[in-house]
Amino acid sequence: MKHRATFGIILLASVLLLTAAIVWPRLAHRGSDSAGAVGGQFSLTDQTGRTVTDADFRGRLMIIYFGYTWCPDVCPTTLARISQALDALTETERRAVAPIFITVDPERDTVARLAEYVAAFSPSLVGLTGSPSAIAAVTKEFHVYVQKTAETGGTYYVDHSSIIFVMDRDGHFRAALDPAATAPAMAAAIRKLL
Ligand code: NI
Repeated sequence: MKHRATFGIILLASVLLLTAAIVWPRLAHRGSDSAGAVGGQFSLTDQTGRTVTDADFRGRLMIIYFGYTWCPDVCPTTLARISQALDALTETERRAVAPIFITVDPERDTVARLAEYVAAFSPSLVGLTGSPSAIAAVTKEFHVYVQKTAETGGTYYVDHSSIIFVMDRDGHFRAALDPAATAPAMAAAIRKLL
């Protein structure tokens, strides 16, 4: 009997923990400043010099990648894959997504530099930059790791997380896409989220 009671308590505790684990993230992302939530509000400048906020993308899935234009390898390959995945979507599907590249290197990634860079990948890719404090705020919201490396010969690199965030039509975190996935696999993953 005693054994059975213990089992019951363990089962109940497990169910409560599981419920908390499922319910808590949903509750948490209601407030944009909740510590555990991924994503939040931002106000940045796009590659045309226009001020844009997260609210401008409501009604579309935001596909957000953080990086910088001087990145030697990971950023360009990932952005190339994202744009190939977008090409694999139908026109209607493509209109339902907003691919966004947010720089982690605002000192060097000016509006003009971003304009040239994003155009090389996809006409629909939005490039966002901002003041160092605005960029620091958005990377914090998305829990993106950013670390400038030591300067050598006047140049520096920026180590950063390589995560493709998918935010739902209300701007809440929905899923993360594998940056190493092939373009067709990525397109299939995006289509499933639409
Ligand atoms: Ni990079």
